[in-house]
Amino acid sequence: MKNNSTSQWIEDFEGNNMPETIVSSGCGGWVNIEGNERAYEAVSGHSCLNLGHGHSELIDVVADSLKNLSYCSPEHLSPSSIALSERLSTLLGGNYMVKYSLSGSSSNEIALSIARRRWKALGHANKTVCISLDRSYHGNLGQAQYVTGFEAFRVEGRPDNTDFVHISSARNANTGALFSLTEIQTQIENTVASIGAERIACLFVEPVNFAGGVIVPPKGYLKLLRKLCDQYEITLIVDEVITGFGRSGAWFAFQQEMIRPDIVTMGKGITAGYFPLAAVAVDKRIYDELQHHQVPLKMVITMAGHPVGCSIALKAIEIVERDNLCAQVTSNEQVIRATLNLIADLPIISEIRGFGHMWGLEFCDFNGYSSANIATQVAQDCEHNGCIVAAADGIIRINPPLNMSEDECDHMLKVITDAVNTITANLAAG
Ligand SMILES: Cc1ncc(COP(=O)(O)O)c(C=O)c1O
Repeated sequence: MKNNSTSQWIEDFEGNNMPETIVSSGCGGWVNIEGNERAYEAVSGHSCLNLGHGHSELIDVVADSLKNLSYCSPEHLSPSSIALSERLSTLLGGNYMVKYSLSGSSSNEIALSIARRRWKALGHANKTVCISLDRSYHGNLGQAQYVTGFEAFRVEGRPDNTDFVHISSARNANTGALFSLTEIQTQIENTVASIGAERIACLFVEPVNFAGGVIVPPKGYLKLLRKLCDQYEITLIVDEVITGFGRSGAWFAFQQEMIRPDIVTMGKGITAGYFPLAAVAVDKRIYDELQHHQVPLKMVITMAGHPVGCSIALKAIEIVERDNLCAQVTSNEQVIRATLNLIADLPIISEIRGFGHMWGLEFCDFNGYSSANIATQVAQDCEHNGCIVAAADGIIRINPPLNMSEDECDHMLKVITDAVNTITANLAAG
């Protein structure tokens, strides 16, 4: 894990050493990488830079907010934390109570803890089991790593207690085919029957398993989970850390299925990547139950709900709304799908899937090269030609900023399709 030129270490999710890429500056969706040409951030930094670098309105908010109130204790309220919690509740559909945190992982830990405390307060102290999906990602430290279903992402391996259960994602891990809603229902009902509904506290789900391979579930999936959670009295926690704030083409991806989660966790794009802020929204009905039973929530984090972060989030939300970026994401989706479909039949491509600004190109083994190797070659070729995509597990992930211009979209798609065509030709030639 040792790097040569700095006194910090970096690695990828799986703990692999990373090349020492030094990003020296950024402007809009573009970054300058030392020793390279500038490149378009088709991965929005780390899926968070929703409005690109150096957005003047966000920068102004930082300065104004720092001048006005440079910090606020998590035991107090600030005008911006009040305004943001109200805004989030409204965006989510109303009647949610918000708790701020600092990262997607800590939001998920808070959500897990609330789900368990809820059932304890209601007299079901044995309802502690957390169900989540194979290949899901909910964080890689603390309890969040145990919620994470992707083996390679769990720093400390499998949990040594039976309170974390991982069920199949919506995609068959062996064949790659999507399960039908009936198959999914049977799997979940079998799991519930074997554990006992009286032991299950919550079900965590990402609307799209993005880090786990851009697994897009079949239509009706979240509706089905909502129905089953109601039936078996399980708290439904929807992790919108990646999918939230417009990336799906809606404010939140769960809204496309018209469900109401019990708890929603948020992070990343909430401040468009300009400040470490995250949040958990709890249905007020659950919050009221906790209050009624005088359950202490004890979730004080020194920097959570920082007024600067809350002010930035308010401005970022205002920009996404004012500039109609959810609609823009939906119309970009058509262009992205149509262009990527042009390369879908190439022999190195196994599947292209996604929607909104969340796409994955999955490769297959070809001419003696593994899919993982091919994905890495494609990503390297893209970066060399001015576009950053993320390769892992034989897949490249593409999730550009929401305010990508038409030219930037054309550039991104041209670099990616050129790279796939070039690598196909190279590998076919042996
Ligand atoms: C769906 C999802 N949940 C949670 C997290 C963890 O967020 P953080 O890295 O801010 O702790 C991530 C990060 O990639 C994520 O994609």
